[in-house]
Amino acid sequence: MSGPPLESSITVGGCTLRNRLYRAPLLECAGNGPDTVETLIDELEPAAASGVGLIHQGATIVRADGGCAAPGMTRVSDPAFVSQLERLTDVIHAHGGAIALQLEYGGLRSMEVWHAGYRESNPDLEQLVVSRPPRVLRALDRVGFLELTPRVMDAKTVESLAADFGRAAAHAVDAGYDMIHLAGANMGIIQQFLSPFYNRREDEFGIDPETGSGVRFLELVHDEIRDRAGDVPLITKIPSEAAAPRVLRPRLSDENAVRTAVRLESIGYDGVVPVRCSVFWDMSIVRGAFPARAWRASHLRPGYIEAFGSRPRAIAVAAGNWLQSLKYRREPGWNADLARRVRNSVEIPVFLEGGLRERGELERYLGDAADLVGMGRPFYAEPRLPARLLGGTDETRVVCEDCNNCAVAQAGGAEGTCRTPSVLRRAGQLRKRDAYDTPSNE
Ligand SMILES: Cc1cc2nc3c(=O)[nH]c(=O)nc-3n(C[C@H](O)[C@H](O)[C@H](O)COP(=O)(O)O)c2cc1C
Repeated sequence: MSGPPLESSITVGGCTLRNRLYRAPLLECAGNGPDTVETLIDELEPAAASGVGLIHQGATIVRADGGCAAPGMTRVSDPAFVSQLERLTDVIHAHGGAIALQLEYGGLRSMEVWHAGYRESNPDLEQLVVSRPPRVLRALDRVGFLELTPRVMDAKTVESLAADFGRAAAHAVDAGYDMIHLAGANMGIIQQFLSPFYNRREDEFGIDPETGSGVRFLELVHDEIRDRAGDVPLITKIPSEAAAPRVLRPRLSDENAVRTAVRLESIGYDGVVPVRCSVFWDMSIVRGAFPARAWRASHLRPGYIEAFGSRPRAIAVAAGNWLQSLKYRREPGWNADLARRVRNSVEIPVFLEGGLRERGELERYLGDAADLVGMGRPFYAEPRLPARLLGGTDETRVVCEDCNNCAVAQAGGAEGTCRTPSVLRRAGQLRKRDAYDTPSNE
């Protein structure tokens, strides 16, 4: 049985999208400076101009202090600043596209935990945490690899953090965003609430026996967003931690992710993005090769040394990255079976991303494992990728080779961009053949 075509429209929580192809969130490192809006327009406009249905802007931070997971993240706590982003949303809308803002707070994934240079210039920053940090993080703290200054949130602080998500969503709606996307995975604070690896609370924000996840925080965030931002379409990533090494437990299973999705639908979420990841922020979310070129690049080295504290430590992190690359090879559509299980249990749209690379694959998953399909890394080499995929043949394939040279340099503050000459050459050849000129769907 064939599903809906990629080009067919779909409605997510009242927002009608012109097709089912989306650009997955990728940190833009646009910060909060005078060039932020221009940087975001440069990065995101080509996808809209070439016909994508929905763009997910990379994660932004809901508070004014701390909680940034990586260098250059944009904070969205100040309404005056967020109002400037209306210029971006206008540009996307002028091309017939839609744009979601992703909201995040780092907790134990914050730069003040792992980024040596940032910690040095912000020595007083504490981390808001769900419970006492897991043993393995405390061990890394003791040997000086991380620096933890955790503050376990009392119920009032949890409520105030949820209210920050609500306020940021309201600012986003005022600036013209079409959808709010919660960064529910990638080791952000939402995953830390959901996961029994982090959440050992005994109050109402602890692990819910029915879902096996600490879903109450997402319920509260939902209510705050509805109170402050109205009925804006609201979606979230939902992690299964099944990809984590076996020794790391307890953790979220696929079944917990499915039950969490069912609960979120019942309380009013409009869509979910199920992702299979680990309990940490690692290569399980960006499966592919070891990014040797990006680690070796001499101009990127100072950024790594600043981030990890010294050259030997940067080398140790690179070695860990290599080991992970052996475990987390790209498999086509690695979240598809989880997404299918979720989709069989809910009525709301299910978004699928992770390792999708060919138009034929996208169409096979539509109506089976997912209602919308997205890609992340392939947009770096091909910002106007939708022009090739929409209306292409089953064999139309991205030029991205999953080498991950785009991703790792972000830890050191460098922009996310394709750094692989053979891939860029191939994109250049396609550009010369006008492959990115049609269709525009405008
Ligand atoms: C450099 C980089 C930055 C990312 N930033 C985010 C982010 O801000 N929020 C998020 O939910 N996922 C983020 N992701 C994960 C992507 O959205 C996507 O799930 C992942 O890259 C797998 O899709 P792909 O195989 O098509 O790249 C990021 C991935 C990369 C490579």
